[in-house]
Amino acid sequence: MLIVTATAKDLDTLRDLDMRCYFYPVPEVGWSHALLDSACVVNMVKLSNRPLGYSIVEPLGKGLRIHRLGVLKKFRGIGVAKRLLHKAEDMRRDTGADALTIMVPEIHCLPGDPDDVSGYLKSQGFLAYATQLDAFRMYGRKYDGIIFKRGPQ
Ligand SMILES: CC(C)(COP(=O)(O)OP(=O)(O)OC[C@H]1O[C@@H](n2cnc3c(N)ncnc32)[C@H](O)[C@@H]1OP(=O)(O)O)[C@@H](O)C(=O)NCCC(=O)NCCS
Repeated sequence: MLIVTATAKDLDTLRDLDMRCYFYPVPEVGWSHALLDSACVVNMVKLSNRPLGYSIVEPLGKGLRIHRLGVLKKFRGIGVAKRLLHKAEDMRRDTGADALTIMVPEIHCLPGDPDDVSGYLKSQGFLAYATQLDAFRMYGRKYDGIIFKRGPQ
C-alpha cells in the first residue's frame, strides 16, 4: 500500500471514491477548494496503482480537520484508514496543530446501527466533544454534526 497526495488531475478518481464511500458527496465547490487551496491536503491510498481510500485534511483553528476519511467497501478492515490517520497525525505534528478533529452526522452515531461510525472513531482514540447544528445536508434535509477530537498520539 502506498500513500500519495492527490492533485487536480485525480478529480474524477476522487469523485468516484467519494460517491462509493459516503452518503453525502463533496459538492463541486468543495473539490475545487480541496484540490486547489494549498492549505488543504487530499491523500489517497493505492495498491498496484488502484485507489482504495482517501482523506481530505485541512487546518482549522488550532487543529487539523479531517473532512473525509473513506475506504472502498471491498478493502475495509485491512488498515487503509489507519494509514490515512497516521498520515494525518504526521501532518498534525509537522504543522504544530494541537489535535485532529472529524465531524460526522449525528444520525451516524448510533452504536449498533450498521451505519454507526462512533465505534470506529472511539477505537481510533477520538472522543466526541461538540455538536454543530445543521452541519450536513443529505437527501435535501439538514442534520446535526458531532465533532470528534483526538490529541497527539
Ligand atoms: C470508517 C472507515 C473509514 C474505516 O476504514 P477501514 O480501512 O476499514 O479501517 P481500518 O481497517 O484502518 O481500521 C480498522 C480498525 O478500526 C476498528 N473498527 C472498525 N470499525 C469499528 C467499529 N464499528 N467499532 C469498533 N472498532 C472498529 C477495527 O477493529 C480496527 O482496529 P485495529 O486498529 O485495532 O486493528 C470505513 O469503514 C469507511 O470508509 N466508512 C464509510 C465512510 C465514513 O463513514 N467515514 C467516516 C469515518 S469517521
